[in-house]
Amino acid sequence: MKIGVFDSGIGGLTVLKEIMYKLPKFHYIYYGDTLHLPYGDKTKQELLKLVSKIIDFFIKEKVDLILIACGTVSSTIYDELCNLYSIKILNIINSTIEKIETDKIQDIVVLATTRTINSHVFSNSLENIKVTEIACPKFVPLLEKNIGNKDNILDEYLRAIKLDRKNNIVLGCTHYPLLQKDIEKYLGYKVNFYNMGKIIAEKITDLNLINQDFMLEMYFSLIDDNLLNNVKRIIDVEYKIEQIVL
Ligand code: DGL
Repeated sequence: MKIGVFDSGIGGLTVLKEIMYKLPKFHYIYYGDTLHLPYGDKTKQELLKLVSKIIDFFIKEKVDLILIACGTVSSTIYDELCNLYSIKILNIINSTIEKIETDKIQDIVVLATTRTINSHVFSNSLENIKVTEIACPKFVPLLEKNIGNKDNILDEYLRAIKLDRKNNIVLGCTHYPLLQKDIEKYLGYKVNFYNMGKIIAEKITDLNLINQDFMLEMYFSLIDDNLLNNVKRIIDVEYKIEQIVL
C-alpha cells in the first residue's frame, strides 16, 4: 500500500514521522511545496490550484491513500477536494477535534496559520469548550527560513496565554510541533499539547491497511541546503529526495 503525504514544506514531516513510527511497513511518498510556502496566507483559490497539482501527482504515482498533513489545506478546501477526487483523502484536523471532544476539557488554545484561524474550524466544531484562537503567521518563515527572532515571536503570540496559564494547546499547524519545546520553555509550566500528527497516526493504525516493504520517497518543489538540513534533523530513516516542480 502506497501512502501520499503532503504539506507546504517540512511541517508535514512531523506527521509523516509519527505515522512511520506506527506503521513502519509502507511505501510513503512525501511532497513538500517549498516553492510556494507559506500556505497559511494563500486564498482558497490559490490553495486549490496548488493542491490539485499535488493530488494529480500522487494519483500518477498510484498511491492508495492521501493524507493532507497540512492544517491550512484541511481547514480550507477539504470538502472541495473530496468532491473533485474519488481517491481516499484524509484530513488532519477532524481526528484532533474528535480527540479534544472525548477529553472533556473546559478550554483550549488553538495556535495555527491565519487561514486556519479565519476558518474557525475548531471554535465552530467545539461548541461546549471555550476556544481561544491565535494566528501565528511568523512561525512558518522562522522554521523554514530562519526569518525573525524566535524569542520575540514567541512572546508576541504567547504572552496573553502565559498570563492566564492556559495549558491545553492545539498545535493547529503541522509545523508547530517543531517549536513544541520552545513553547513549553517560554510558558514555563506543563502543557497538554494536541499534536495532530500523533493523533492521526493512531487513527490510521485503526484503518487496517495492507503492509508492504518500507520505502520513503520525498519530493520538494524547491530544495536548498537549509531544507536538506531541516529534513535530516526531522527524519532519521533512509530516504530518497528530489526536487520536482509540479
Ligand atoms: N504546515 C501547514 C499547516 O499545517 C502549512 C503552513 C504554511 O505553509 O503556512 O497549516
